[in-house]
Amino acid sequence: MTRKNVEIIKPDDWHVHLREDAIMKHVLPYTYKNFKRALVMPNLNPPITTLKKATSYYEAICRNIPIEIKFHPLLTLYLSEEISTTLLSALSDHKFIKAIKMYPRGATTNSELGVSNFRSYYRIFEAMEKYGLVLCIHGEVTDENIDVFDREKVFIDTVLLDILKSFPNLKVVLEHITTKEAVEFVSSQNESLAASITLHHLLINRNKLLSEKIRPHFFCAPILKSEIDRKVLVEAATSGISKFFLGTDSAPHFIKDKLSPCGCAGIFTSPVTMEYLVQLFYNEGKIDMLEKFASINGALFYGEPTVGEKVKYRYRNIPMKRLKNIQIENEEISIFDPSIDLHWEREK
Ligand code: DOR
Ligand code: ZN
Repeated sequence: MTRKNVEIIKPDDWHVHLREDAIMKHVLPYTYKNFKRALVMPNLNPPITTLKKATSYYEAICRNIPIEIKFHPLLTLYLSEEISTTLLSALSDHKFIKAIKMYPRGATTNSELGVSNFRSYYRIFEAMEKYGLVLCIHGEVTDENIDVFDREKVFIDTVLLDILKSFPNLKVVLEHITTKEAVEFVSSQNESLAASITLHHLLINRNKLLSEKIRPHFFCAPILKSEIDRKVLVEAATSGISKFFLGTDSAPHFIKDKLSPCGCAGIFTSPVTMEYLVQLFYNEGKIDMLEKFASINGALFYGEPTVGEKVKYRYRNIPMKRLKNIQIENEEISIFDPSIDLHWEREK
């Protein structure tokens, strides 16, 4: 058999949760080994709402990166009333703060301080448009009257469309898109709107979460959607279209917090993202598009350089062993396991 190898520019993760302290120490190596850059989410408790907090979080991340590793953490600020137009002007060409993140209140982990009245931030969006700052959006409404599977669609129709009409040059990333409607919507808009896509929304659907048995480890926000949606996401990711790029939304939680009567949303995918992505793109016959999705499109959107170190992946006939849970003191974090044999590994 011919040897199967893939070489691409070292990828970027345009959406990751690294948390803090002990969890950060344990999960960060999976990001700095596999990715060249990562855009780190600000939903800590309390969230990263100021330049001062962002700087100390950045320094804490950097302290945990060995000197010989070439990895660039990039940060986001949590959209809140603490963000002023003066602060935004200081961010227009910032070294490591690359976006403002908008969480609808109650949409996900640590979003209690998120936005409930989107229009009250239009003054901020206007300044962001002026300074060329990127707005990252968790695109779901949180109205209890809206079915959880429709929250992304309703957000697009009732919130996003109005933001884009009001600020046509505002750079927006609709994050972790999950539906056919989101792919169609993003494709229909100008180049100021892009979307990130996660590994888990590309690999599994809501039946994997809910049919036969409930699998709390597959619970995430936005919730997994139908097989039709998943297929459309795969088509978008593998199309090479510059609007679509990788944002893992890798979100570690302790197993006790996932397997609880009130379990947390989030899937910890960083350790296996690239290998499963290579396999997916290869099996789809689209391996030539992987570099665009994982290493180029996002960087171009965020105005970051696309040159640099390369990484290689190779096919193995014998599937990889399932990775063990991560042990942190007396707690554990489980690594995404979609129950799909994995035949690709990174060449060291
Ligand atoms: O599943 C998710 N988990 N989605 C998010 O938007 C946030 C994340 C987390 O921080 O746990
Ligand atoms: Zn997230």
